[in-house]
Amino acid sequence: MWCHLNKPFFMQQFVGIFSLLTSQTAALDCETMKKTNEFPSPKVYSETDVIMKGQNVSLFCSNQNKSLQITYVMFRGMKHLGTWDGKGEPMIFNLRISEAGDLGPYKCKTQVSNCSRYSQEFSFTFANPVTTPVLNISAFQTETARYITLRCISYNGSLPINYTFFEKDVAISPAISKNVREPAEFNLTERITGEREEYRCKAKNRLPNHAKYSQPFTMPSTGGDSCPFCLQLLLPGLLLLLIVIILMLAFWILPKYKARKAMRDNAPRNYGNKPMEVGIYANVCQNQADDKSVPGLEPRQCVSTAQDGTGHSKEIHYATPVFQEVAQGDHEAHNDCKTGYVYSELVL
Ligand SMILES: *[C@@H]1O[C@H](CO)[C@@H](O)[C@H](O)[C@H]1NC(C)=O
Ligand SMILES: *[C@@H]1O[C@H](CO)[C@@H](O)[C@H](O)[C@H]1NC(C)=O
Ligand SMILES: *[C@@H]1O[C@H](CO)[C@@H](O)[C@H](O)[C@H]1NC(C)=O
Ligand SMILES: *[C@@H]1O[C@H](CO)[C@@H](O)[C@H](O)[C@H]1NC(C)=O
Ligand SMILES: *[C@@H]1O[C@H](CO)[C@@H](O)[C@H](O)[C@H]1NC(C)=O
Ligand SMILES: *[C@@H]1O[C@H](CO)[C@@H](O)[C@H](O)[C@H]1NC(C)=O
Ligand SMILES: *[C@@H]1O[C@H](CO)[C@@H](O)[C@H](O)[C@H]1NC(C)=O
Repeated sequence: MWCHLNKPFFMQQFVGIFSLLTSQTAALDCETMKKTNEFPSPKVYSETDVIMKGQNVSLFCSNQNKSLQITYVMFRGMKHLGTWDGKGEPMIFNLRISEAGDLGPYKCKTQVSNCSRYSQEFSFTFANPVTTPVLNISAFQTETARYITLRCISYNGSLPINYTFFEKDVAISPAISKNVREPAEFNLTERITGEREEYRCKAKNRLPNHAKYSQPFTMPSTGGDSCPFCLQLLLPGLLLLLIVIILMLAFWILPKYKARKAMRDNAPRNYGNKPMEVGIYANVCQNQADDKSVPGLEPRQCVSTAQDGTGHSKEIHYATPVFQEVAQGDHEAHNDCKTGYVYSELVL
């Protein structure tokens, strides 16, 4: 019974030990290759791991050791996709990713004689491209500065979306990452300049080469017309100033005008019908001083002569009051002929 039972057992042990020895020699070869890193595990990769539905992509499988003749095998999950032989160059697998099942996981096997190695798994993810973002600007301004809030949102496209704001093609904000469908917000304080500022924003998600820019948004010039409240404030002030000026003019000019009118009313009696409007004024101060200097007085009175077109001349004497004891003979009046005006020298 014991023998009967143990006969196959010995047989099994014998076969087992034998196969162990043979497989160990093969395993040893592979082990040494792995240990010395002569045959490292391959890498599987693509240019992008985020793709749109229906996109064609290239999947690469490469081995670091360029001098080995290698058999490459590509799998998706458990499914064997294909086998390629090559040396030195990575193997390229072109794929069309049209449904969720095509996303992966992909795995690549390299084999050299009886030794094989596997890559890490690689999977794609689907993403929708961003649509053209919408830029919304609100602003308020004080006398010196303008406070601007820029908002940017792309209503379609897979999250997360990074938004960047630009002023005339120069980025003015960092990339603002949004994991929910809401506008990215950026505040800006700007000194008042007369220039028109142009803003735009960029939306970008993980899909490569699919960034989109908004329409440019031009802020109205910061000069007068951009400040509707300024005019409302300025207008009453301006009106007030105008009224004051009008009143001042009225009070200044009216009496003068009246005086002039009175003078004109008198003038015709002396000059006939032509009131003297234009004339040549000559200072005859010097002559006057020479001719009629009062002894003991400085000759300071000046005379202006005026001539009009008719040849009439009028002399206007500006007298300098002199404080002096009055001598009987000094109290004379100058009568400068032609004008008919008589100005007496005032001596007190
Ligand atoms: C590549 O493999 C060959 C053959 O096993 C080996 O001689 C060589 O050293 C390996 N090269 C590298 C860089 O590991
Ligand atoms: C993608 O590849 C398929 C063949 O695999 C081809 O028929 C198709 O035109 C390609 N599409 C694009 C967008 O390149
Ligand atoms: C190992 O490879 C040799 C040839 O390279 C082949 O004859 C042998 O059958 C292989 N052994 C196993 C266990 O695959
Ligand atoms: C701009 O943003 C304000 C505040 O969020 C909102 O009330 C307004 O509707 C937005 N305008 C546009 C055109 O999106
Ligand atoms: C958003 O993208 C999805 C997927 O590409 C598309 O079906 C949908 O029509 C898009 N919506 C808009 C408003 O563009
Ligand atoms: C921008 O400023 C407004 C007030 O003007 C404030 O409510 C908002 O939180 C600010 N946003 C950011 C991103 O700082
Ligand atoms: C978004 O911006 C963050 C930094 O703010 C960056 O780490 C990330 O890579 C960006 N993502 C994309 C898709 O550009």
